[in-house]
Amino acid sequence: MTTAVQIRQSNYIDSILHGDCIEVMRQMPVNSVDFILSDPPYLVNYRDRTGRSIQNDNNDGWLKPAMKEAYRVLKQDRMAVMFYGWSKVDAFFAAWKDAGFHPVGHIVFRKDYASKRRLVQYQHEQAYLLAKGKPPLPENPIADVINIDYSGNKLHPTQKPISALVPLIRSFSLPGEVILDPFTGSASTCAAALLTGRRYIGIEMDEMYFTQARKRMERVHARIAVRRSVSLRHSSLR
Ligand SMILES: C[S@@+](CC[C@H](N)C(=O)[O-])C[C@H]1O[C@@H](n2cnc3c(N)ncnc32)[C@H](O)[C@@H]1O
Repeated sequence: MTTAVQIRQSNYIDSILHGDCIEVMRQMPVNSVDFILSDPPYLVNYRDRTGRSIQNDNNDGWLKPAMKEAYRVLKQDRMAVMFYGWSKVDAFFAAWKDAGFHPVGHIVFRKDYASKRRLVQYQHEQAYLLAKGKPPLPENPIADVINIDYSGNKLHPTQKPISALVPLIRSFSLPGEVILDPFTGSASTCAAALLTGRRYIGIEMDEMYFTQARKRMERVHARIAVRRSVSLRHSSLR
């Protein structure tokens, strides 16, 4: 496994890094990212129908140190949005508060399908809005309920749809700013960041998902380059 070796910020912006995010973030400067949007393991030992699983979903040893590093690298008076597993809310809440985050809101992602049926049909995901310091209020705050489509989970067993992430990135960051996802999976956050004109840093420890994430970002970069060249051609014809 490779990890990022030292580390001027310009070396890893617009990159997907392979490694344990605790180690990688430790090498990043304090107060260096503008927004964190992440979907850590839910601590539920998840395995999908085809047998795909998620590293660190069976233990919470990483949770406190990872949240501590996430807090350190986030700029003062900025926001983080973290998905979490509802059945392990106590562990997540303790880790966020321990790190210094203030929980300032909660977002429900409503699905029109059930991921599981038992006592109820499980039809939502959830994330906490976490502040470092006192971030400014957005001019037009988004609703705290967001409808999400099924991503298809082709690249990752718990792949989030880009459409659910874009409103959060637009609300809590500006074009050109740096978005960090320490648990990047198939790089849905990084793709949403790039497509909205932000820069990104993704960190993924699983070699297979890391490879998927890198390839996906190459495709997104290529798509944007084609779009740019078409619009340049059109403007030069005018
Ligand atoms: C819930 S998944 C994220 C899925 C992602 N939102 C997507 O759309 O593809 C969490 C990811 O974190 C990775 N992971 C777990 N522990 C990690 C660590 N300490 N450092 C970096 N990645 C880690 C897992 O391998 C997994 O891919």
